[in-house]
Amino acid sequence: MQIIIEKDYEAMSRRTADVIVDTIINNPSATLCLAAGDTPRLAYSLAAKRINSEQIDVTSCKFVSLDEWIGISDNNDGSCGYFLRTVLFDPLRITNQQVHVFDGLANNLLAECGAMDEFIFNNGGIDLIVVGIGRNGHVGFNEPGVSFDHYSHVVELDATTKTVGQKYFRETTALNQGITLGLKHLLESRQAVLIANGTAKAEVIHLSLDEEISTAMPASIIQNHQNALVIVDEEAASLLKTRRS
Ligand code: PGA
Repeated sequence: MQIIIEKDYEAMSRRTADVIVDTIINNPSATLCLAAGDTPRLAYSLAAKRINSEQIDVTSCKFVSLDEWIGISDNNDGSCGYFLRTVLFDPLRITNQQVHVFDGLANNLLAECGAMDEFIFNNGGIDLIVVGIGRNGHVGFNEPGVSFDHYSHVVELDATTKTVGQKYFRETTALNQGITLGLKHLLESRQAVLIANGTAKAEVIHLSLDEEISTAMPASIIQNHQNALVIVDEEAASLLKTRRS
């Protein structure tokens, strides 16, 4: 695991964008899993800008979502699907054939999980996964206490996630369950990038990277990844003791 501490959010975002773009340049048919959320928003915009201005071919890439709120349509601008479409897929003119995202309104959630796992498997596994970290240490909707052994699965959301998740929605929204890639997907990816910024993430970054790996802190599993990069800004790194870079 390599830890890169950047000065601020913009520098963290630029570094993350470069990892995404370099992955695509090195492997034009890469399969990428890019998390939704406030943390990666600027990184994706910068990546899209660079891809478009340098005319990098993304027509053979595949994209999968990390997670989705159950019961929320992807027309809702608080959904993960809406975020990915507007921040990344539309600016890059990514076609529907290149994308597989969780449908939060699916009737058969088990089948939805199976279809995601099959898409990832059929496309050779995930080459790059970019994830954020929740204030409770979750990755995607892999909440504290989750098994490290799951592929896609449905979860009951943690109380912190239900509360913090309100920030994505215009009005108070009932958030009870989520559908998510599992930590097994993260571990099996060829490269994993964990990003975080701001003082609100300092404690969980410290607990995830300085302490022993524990299901109580799902993001700590990144320590076991063969090719992991943690990109944080100085605020998120402010409690970090393991300053490897
Ligand atoms: P954020 O979410 O990027 O909006 O902070 C991170 C997460 O909950 O995984």
